[in-house]
Amino acid sequence: MKVGIDAGGTLIKVAYTDEGEVHFAKHPIADIGSVAEWINGLPVSEVCVTGGKSGVLASLLEQPVQEMVEFEATHLGVQVLLERMGLHHEAYLVTNVGTGTSIHCVQDNSQERLGGTGIGGGTLIGLSHLLTGITSFDEIVEHAKRGSRERIDLKVKHIYEGKEPPISGELTASNFGQDLFAISHELSKEELLATVIGLVGETVSTVSVHAARQCRSSTIVYIGSSFSDNALLKEVVTSYTILRGSTPLFPDNGEYSGAVGALSVLEQKKEHQS
Ligand SMILES: Nc1ncnc2c1ncn2[C@@H]1O[C@H](COP(=O)(O)OP(=O)(O)OP(=O)(O)O)[C@@H](O)[C@H]1O
Ligand SMILES: [Mg+2]
Repeated sequence: MKVGIDAGGTLIKVAYTDEGEVHFAKHPIADIGSVAEWINGLPVSEVCVTGGKSGVLASLLEQPVQEMVEFEATHLGVQVLLERMGLHHEAYLVTNVGTGTSIHCVQDNSQERLGGTGIGGGTLIGLSHLLTGITSFDEIVEHAKRGSRERIDLKVKHIYEGKEPPISGELTASNFGQDLFAISHELSKEELLATVIGLVGETVSTVSVHAARQCRSSTIVYIGSSFSDNALLKEVVTSYTILRGSTPLFPDNGEYSGAVGALSVLEQKKEHQS
C-alpha cells in the first residue's frame, strides 16, 4: 500500500492505493494526530508527504517518509488528473484555491509561481462565520446556494444611472458595495453568504485572468477544496473567467492534486525499479 498526503493549512488530503485502486480521504488539520495513527496502523510500504504541515505529519509517522515540495506535488498531481480525464494541454495556468490562493504557470513540463491572493477558502469560511455565526463549510455552501447578491453588491449599472456604462452594467463595481447601512439588519444569511462566495470567486478569477497574460495559455485549471461540492463558487468563477476570454477547467478530484502528485512520485519510483 502506498500513500500520498497533502497536509495543508485547513485540510489533510490523502490519496492511497489499495489492491491497485486509488482511494481518497479528507480530514480537518486539527485531526492530524488521528490521521497519523490511522496511517501507522496500515500495512503501508511507502509514504510521501507534501503541504505546509508535512513536517508536522512526518514527525508523527512511524515509518520513514519522503517529503515533496508542495508546488511540485501539485503540478504533478494536476498533470495526472488531467491525463485521467483524457486532457493534454501543453500550457495552462493553475489556480489553487486552498486556505489561501496560489497561481502557477505550467509550460514545457515545469511550473512557475506567478503570484496569489490572500482571498481564498479561509476567507470564505472566516467572513461567513463573522457575518452569520455558521462554522460548517457544507452549511455555508448550502445556505449560499439559496441567496441573492442583488441587494449587497454594487453593479456598474447602479453607478451609471441614466447613462450607458463604458463596460457591462452587470459587472460588479464593488463587492458588498451597496448602501447597506439602512438594510443591514434585514439581510438574510443566504444573501450574506452568497455575497461572500461572490467576493471570493470574483477575486480569484480576476487575479487568475490577469496572471494568464503572463502564461502562454488561456486555460485556467482551478483546484483546491474550496470548490468541493461548491457549485456556486464554480459558477461565479466559470462565468467571470469566460467573460474575460479564458477557459476554466475543474479537474475531477482537483482538491487531491497535491496528494495525487505525492502518490505518483512513489508510483514512478516503482516503475523505474521494475
Ligand atoms: N470539510 C471542510 N472543512 C473545512 N473547509 C472546507 C471543507 N471542505 C472544503 N473546505 C474549503 O476548502 C478550503 C481549504 O482548501 P484546501 O484543502 O485546498 O486548502 P489547504 O491545502 O488546507 O490550504 P493551503 O493549501 O492554503 O495550505 C477551506 O478554507 C474551505 O473553504
Ligand atoms: Mg493546499
